[in-house]
Amino acid sequence: MKRILVLFLTLAMILSVVTACGTPQPAAPATTTAAPATSAAAAADTTLVGISMPTRTAERWIIEGDFMKAGLESAGYEVDLQFANDQVDQQVSQVENMITRGAKFLIICPIDGASMSAPLAQAKAQNIQILAYDRLLMETQDVDYFVGFDSTRIGNHMGNSLMKGINADAADPANPLYIELFAGSLDDSNTHLYFDGAVDMIQPYLDSGKVVVKSGQTSLNECATPGWDGLVAQNRMQNLLSAHYTDDILAGALSPYDGLSLGMIGALKAVGYGSADKPMAKVTGQDCELPSLISIWNDEQYSSIFLDLEVLAGRAVEVCEAMLKGTPLDMTTTYNNDAKDVAAYLADAFELTKETIPKYFFERGEYTEADLALQ
Ligand code: GAL
Repeated sequence: MKRILVLFLTLAMILSVVTACGTPQPAAPATTTAAPATSAAAAADTTLVGISMPTRTAERWIIEGDFMKAGLESAGYEVDLQFANDQVDQQVSQVENMITRGAKFLIICPIDGASMSAPLAQAKAQNIQILAYDRLLMETQDVDYFVGFDSTRIGNHMGNSLMKGINADAADPANPLYIELFAGSLDDSNTHLYFDGAVDMIQPYLDSGKVVVKSGQTSLNECATPGWDGLVAQNRMQNLLSAHYTDDILAGALSPYDGLSLGMIGALKAVGYGSADKPMAKVTGQDCELPSLISIWNDEQYSSIFLDLEVLAGRAVEVCEAMLKGTPLDMTTTYNNDAKDVAAYLADAFELTKETIPKYFFERGEYTEADLALQ
């Protein structure tokens, strides 16, 4: 896959910078927990790092897991990379196994942010350092670092993108534009931030009456999609369309993940959206997964969020290496997990539409127009 190749080339560059500079970032602030000092040589020879990813069903976890594994292995670490099939029990036992195997550092992207307390406590009792990756580990003192995207800003981008896509500014309250809201899985801390961030941008249009959620389903609980499952989103969209849109047209729908967007678009197409007399509703997304890029390039999905995965995974590799060597990094900010302020690094993310696919993909050498053509 081209995307993976580019990530590996970038990784090689990150590693050469880390090696050349020794300490890639300024000294840590007081919020950062310093690692016990170990000699670089000893760490490089023997240290085991555990990487626990939620599932292989979303493209990004495979790319980022492989990227971090390759980066740490070329720096001399042993890496145990596991994917947990979206099963909390499986993730717990995989992490327990990493602890038993003697891991010194754990990188965890949790399925359910609040369900890892037992293995985390076990890890802390053995002085293992813990980094929450992309999804914060919630309600526990036993997490040292968070490396993720700024989820509230991502939510803002989603909300703005939807309002731009349906041209909400031009709407007339006497003839409002109808939208529906979809959210992610409630056990993922990002879900709340994406949803709130998006609704903040949409709310002024709801208040002015230019935009209406016709189903009236506007609470996070009503809009959530357990397990980030595209089929669940597809079914909910089907139900919304048959209950509320037999006479009116749905102008757009908020989606926080490409895997949901494609399910929603499937339901829309099944009742005739995407034809000359019934234009496709503007559906947002996130992750820029290949099937969604194809969909956007071919005028179905409206937008996605471009996440610079090499920035995030590269940062996690840097943090892990620096902390294990006892040369802590400046994590730049903190993120509260309902138990403590966790030292955090937040990367930015960007709205992607058909117009910006060339900028984010073709010009970077990831995919060509031919790759995104309908088969
Ligand atoms: C979230 C992540 C999103 C998306 C989603 C479904 O935690 O932030 O980018 O990947 O999971 O996998």
